[in-house]
Amino acid sequence: MPSELTRKFTLNDLRNARAGGSKIAMLTCYDFTTAKLMQQAGVPALLVGDSAANVILGHPTTLPVPLSFMIEITAAVRRGAPLAFLSADMPFGSYHGSIARGVRNVCRMVQKTGCDCVKLEVAASHATLVRELADAGVAVIAHLGLRPQSIGVLGGYRTQGRSAEDAGAIVSLSMQMQEAGAAAILLEAVPPEVAQAVIDATTVPVIGCGAGPACHASVFVTHDALGLTPNPPRFVLHLADLASPAISAYAEYVRLVTSGEYPAASQQYTMPADEKDKFLEAQETKPALRAYE
Ligand code: KIV
Repeated sequence: MPSELTRKFTLNDLRNARAGGSKIAMLTCYDFTTAKLMQQAGVPALLVGDSAANVILGHPTTLPVPLSFMIEITAAVRRGAPLAFLSADMPFGSYHGSIARGVRNVCRMVQKTGCDCVKLEVAASHATLVRELADAGVAVIAHLGLRPQSIGVLGGYRTQGRSAEDAGAIVSLSMQMQEAGAAAILLEAVPPEVAQAVIDATTVPVIGCGAGPACHASVFVTHDALGLTPNPPRFVLHLADLASPAISAYAEYVRLVTSGEYPAASQQYTMPADEKDKFLEAQETKPALRAYE
């Protein structure tokens, strides 16, 4: 049976998981209704990922999703799951250009949504921004490994850290981000040895998204796990097939409408009998409308 969240889940719970060896389940979420269900199911940590660009808006990459859209849906998820630890993805372009602009946009996200944390896809040059944000009291998840916002330079969605040099660079960057004040690290699509090395080299919680079993928390795109997207990545659990029942339900609706079975009497509103009689009588005695010639 699901056990609904009964208290606020915080960054300290993530830290305690790292310290105590327990594992934290995190899922992506993009709307109020789903957030409510996830809170009821006891999902302690939610991420409003910029994968919304793919699964909500239908873009082939995450690049086009605007900050205003991310803010709107993050606030909706917050309303649905007030007790979850809520991370908000900062979308492409919203924390680039200048430190001041990045800080301003992150503050906008935090103030308008009530998120607990923001996630940035980082390169070494983001250390100053992470430091500014940490000093301002913002918890930052530094996202390393496969960084979908960098598809232009990566040239494809591929496993990262497969060479000794690349793996070493991910470990060094993780240390640099922790040093800059990152509250947690998220590793996407890296071999488990790389995740283990990052864990060994840092003290903050490490969230894995296709990064093996050593990570302190796991996350993936919920739509992938519910069977709603074609070809999900291999690390994603297959939790359900919601596509087939949804398609069947839509097809049944089409059948009921086109056959005239819907709306049935039970699906119609009624008038009090005396008002109905009065109304129908008035309709009958009304002079016919003059037809247009
Ligand atoms: O945007 C997203 O959903 C993500 C996770 C898959 C880590 O960044």
